[in-house]
Order: sequence, then C-alpha cells, then structure tokens
Amino acid sequence: MTTLVLTITETLRYRGKLGQWSWALHRLAGLGVLFFFILHVIDTSWSVFYPELYAEAIAVYQSPLFTLGEFALVAAVVYHGINGLRIVVFDYRPQWWKYQEKGALIVLAVSAVILIPTFLLMGYHVMRFYQEPTTVFDLQIMRVVNSQLPFLIGIAATFVGGIILAGLWSVVDRPGAKKQYKRSSFDTFMWTFMRISGILIVPLAFGHLAMVHVIQGVFDITKAGFVPVGSIDANVTGFAADFVTIRWNTMFAGVLIWRIYDAALLAFVAIHAFNGLRYVVNDYIHNKIINRGAQIAILVGCVILITVGSAAIISTSPRTTAEMLESSQVITDQPVN
Ligand code: HEM
Ligand code: HEM
Repeated sequence: MTTLVLTITETLRYRGKLGQWSWALHRLAGLGVLFFFILHVIDTSWSVFYPELYAEAIAVYQSPLFTLGEFALVAAVVYHGINGLRIVVFDYRPQWWKYQEKGALIVLAVSAVILIPTFLLMGYHVMRFYQEPTTVFDLQIMRVVNSQLPFLIGIAATFVGGIILAGLWSVVDRPGAKKQYKRSSFDTFMWTFMRISGILIVPLAFGHLAMVHVIQGVFDITKAGFVPVGSIDANVTGFAADFVTIRWNTMFAGVLIWRIYDAALLAFVAIHAFNGLRYVVNDYIHNKIINRGAQIAILVGCVILITVGSAAIISTSPRTTAEMLESSQVITDQPVN
C-alpha cells in the first residue's frame, strides 16, 4: 500500500515528465477498461441465458451517465492500445529509448487523430437519439448504481474468497521453506504474451468499438427493424437479446464470423488484462497472504469470465423471426417488479 501512495505522490511530484504520466495513464486506462470488461462479458452472456436481464443492462448502457462513460471507455481503449504499441516498439528497439518523450507525444497525437472523428460520430448517434420526440433525458442515477452494485459485490467477494483461501494455504504450507523469487519461464512467457496479445487486440477491440459505437450506435441495439452491423437479418422485435442472436448467427462463407471474432476478443483481452492486474497487484501488495489471495482471485476471475463468455457464444441457438417475435412477446408481457 505504501508503494501505491508513493506512486501517486511521485507521479504528481514529477509534473511535466511525460514518461511518468504516460505510464500512470496506461495503467489507469488498462484497469478501467478491465472493470468495464468484467461487467460487459457477464451482461452479454445474459443475452443468451437471461434475455430480460440483458434488456435491462442495455437500457442502463443507454442512460446518460453510461453514455458519458462510453466516451471515456473508448478514449481509454484507444490511448492504452496506441501507448501499448509504443511500449512494444521500444522494447524491441532499445536504441530508440532516448526518444521516449517524443514517443509519448506521438501516442497522444495519434490517439487524438483517432478519437476526434470517433467522438464526432459517437456524438452524432447520441444527438439523433435525444432528438427523437419519445426520448426523455433522465440521469437514472439509482438505476445505474443498483445495476452495478452486484458486480462490485461479486468482485469484492472473489477477492475476500481468495484471501481466505490464501490464509488456509499458508497454514498447510511448510513454514521455513523460504523461496527465492526468480523470474520463471512463466513470467517470460507472459511478458511475450502481453506484447503479442496487445498487437492482436488492437484490430479486434478497435474493430468491435467501430462496429458498436461508430458504424451503429448503442441505441440501435434496441431499434426494431434495424439490421445489426455485419449481419443480413433485421432485428424485427427491437429486443436487445435478438440483436446479439442475429450477430452471433451471421454466417460468412459458412463461418459464424462474429462468434469467432468475439471468442478471440474474449480470450485475448481476458488473459492480457487479468495478467496486467497481476502486475499491478505485485507492484503494490507485498503482504504474502493478501498477495497470494489476490493472485487466486485473479486466476478464478479470469477462468470464470472466459467460461461464462464462451458458454454464451457456444450456446446461442439459431432462431427464426417468428420464434424471436414469440419469445420477446412472452418476456415483455411479464410484469415488471
Ligand atoms: C488495445 C490493444 C492493447 C495493447 C496494444 C496493450 C498493450 C499492453 C502492454 C504492452 C502492456 C504492458 C505489459 C508489461 O508491462 O509487460 C499492457 C498492460 C496492461 N494492459 Fe493492455 N493492451 C491492450 C488492450 C488492453 C485491454 C483491452 C485491457 C483491459 C481490458 C488491458 C489491460 C491492461 C492492464 C491492466 C495492464 C497492466 C498495466 C500495468 O502494468 O501498468 N489492455 N497492455
Ligand atoms: C460501450 C461499449 C461497448 C458496447 C456497446 C459493446 C457491445 C457489444 C455487443 C452488442 C456484443 C454482442 C455480440 C456482438 O454484437 O458482437 C458484445 C460482445 C462482446 N464485447 Fe463488446 N461492446 C462494447 C465494448 C467492448 C470492449 C471495450 C471490449 C473489449 C475490450 C468488448 C468485448 C466484447 C466481448 C469479448 C464480447 C463477447 C462477450 C461474450 O462472449 O459474452 N466490448 N459487445
């Protein structure tokens, strides 16, 4: 914990040192996107397992507070991705290290070049939505808080569970057997994986965001008659879960293209981001039991997320328009508590 306080104070003290700021921003952006990613994969799995909950999750995504958050999310993904590429390039070109400051400036410039038109297009979708006479501007703060609280509790419970397990482990662990930390082949593998996965995530995550935020807007997910991006069939019901069903059942040349795309995005981002969280934990948590507990929680969290996300992708069943109309009717007819 003292290291965390030191990081914050030293980052503030080093005013003007761009390298320090870009390191802090890279870490903050990575952690912020990871938090969203955990919610997002669980939410999206509901489109298959609990369609009515997914409708509620998308309604929350469409609320004004979340709309603001989506701009921050896109900025964080773009900055972290471009800065990540800079890290990869500099890692393999030590002779360029003297240009670190210039590199950090180029990252800011490239991020701005990508973000300005992206924000304009995202803004266009938002404006179009709020110009519709049926749209009511309502911050819905309590709705957002209530919907996100269970996730926060779930994340906290995973960490507490991990610490309890680590405590039990320390009881059975042979005392006195002091292990010297050596950089293991696992660490070397993960170092390389962070770089390769980062390079692969750039087109996957940027492409995903371009599809859901730029070409179409988040508001189009619930638009009846809308043809989801990269699909052929229209979402006749305007029901959020049907949007995902149509996307995941779209075939190109006999291949379920968006399922494969999302599965790759899921696996690379989950392993990359949870391993990134492991680095952060190792930097700041030096108490042996709490550190081990956090590592257990990270491993469990990563496995759960990949399992839940891929279960949803695999379980999506092809449904006809008539079946979609029928099931959305059943769901919308149910009384809301
Ligand atoms: C868009 C493409 C991405 C690229 C090119 C990229 C690249 C990188 C690189 C090079 C590192 C440093 C690894 C190291 O120190 O060994 C890193 C760390 C990290 N990344 Fe990414 N990343 C990307 C996407 C993501 C996403 C989508 C998330 C979250 C869902 C994420 C979360 C993290 C975290 C939490 C860290 C640890 C930060 C730290 O140690 O300061 N990354 N990333
Ligand atoms: C607010 C911004 C976002 C929106 C509105 C959004 C929307 C969606 C939608 C509609 C799907 C359903 C399938 C599809 O259409 O492909 C989906 C799935 C997915 N998205 Fe996003 N997305 C957002 C941001 C992100 C980001 C930043 C990442 C990764 C860093 C991401 C990763 C994924 C993954 C891995 C899946 C598959 C989930 C599963 O298997 O349960 N999304 N997203």
